[in-house]
Amino acid sequence: MFKDVPYDRYMTEVNRGLAGSGIFLTAKGEKLNTMTIGWGFVGRMWAMPIFIVPVRKSRFTYGLIEKSGEFTVSVPFSSLKKELALCGAKSGRDIDKFKECGLTPVSGKVVDVPVIEQCDLHFECKVVFKKDVDSNSLNQEYDTRCYPNGDYHTLFFGEIVACYMKD
Ligand SMILES: Cc1cc2nc3c(=O)[nH]c(=O)nc-3n(C[C@H](O)[C@H](O)[C@H](O)COP(=O)(O)O)c2cc1C
Repeated sequence: MFKDVPYDRYMTEVNRGLAGSGIFLTAKGEKLNTMTIGWGFVGRMWAMPIFIVPVRKSRFTYGLIEKSGEFTVSVPFSSLKKELALCGAKSGRDIDKFKECGLTPVSGKVVDVPVIEQCDLHFECKVVFKKDVDSNSLNQEYDTRCYPNGDYHTLFFGEIVACYMKD
């Protein structure tokens, strides 16, 4: 059903998704949940393939990743616009977004977090480093523009332990 691919083969599609309607960031704890992200990076750090995801502390997803230290990222190549809009507007605290959107979780290969069947490309990640964005280190204009309420992102650096796509 899935075939492994090099983590950096579909960077154009990942960046197109991020800059477009977003991509899915999934985490699991007391509940399974997914949220839309529009920012993120795939690259190399510490001689390893790394996916960096920025998650504000106010997100339900934040606590799930903090606790489990794992996440997956699922990228639709063609649009799942409605689903991404809902997952980027509603919180998993209040609703089951998988159910609401008709998204199907498929067990991860390595981590204990599923990926989303309706997507084309999947990354499984284990957190190896995290860093809070803080106003002292950030360009002042960015700080004012992106954090008027002080709801800063935490950057979760996830080692990419599996990357695969629909066969
Ligand atoms: C296109 C788009 C991109 C988004 N990007 C991010 C992001 O990179 N980081 C973030 O913390 N929230 C981002 N959000 C907002 C979250 O997806 C939204 O607050 C979501 O409801 C959080 O869900 P949760 O409370 O279930 O974790 C984005 C929303 C949209 C619509």
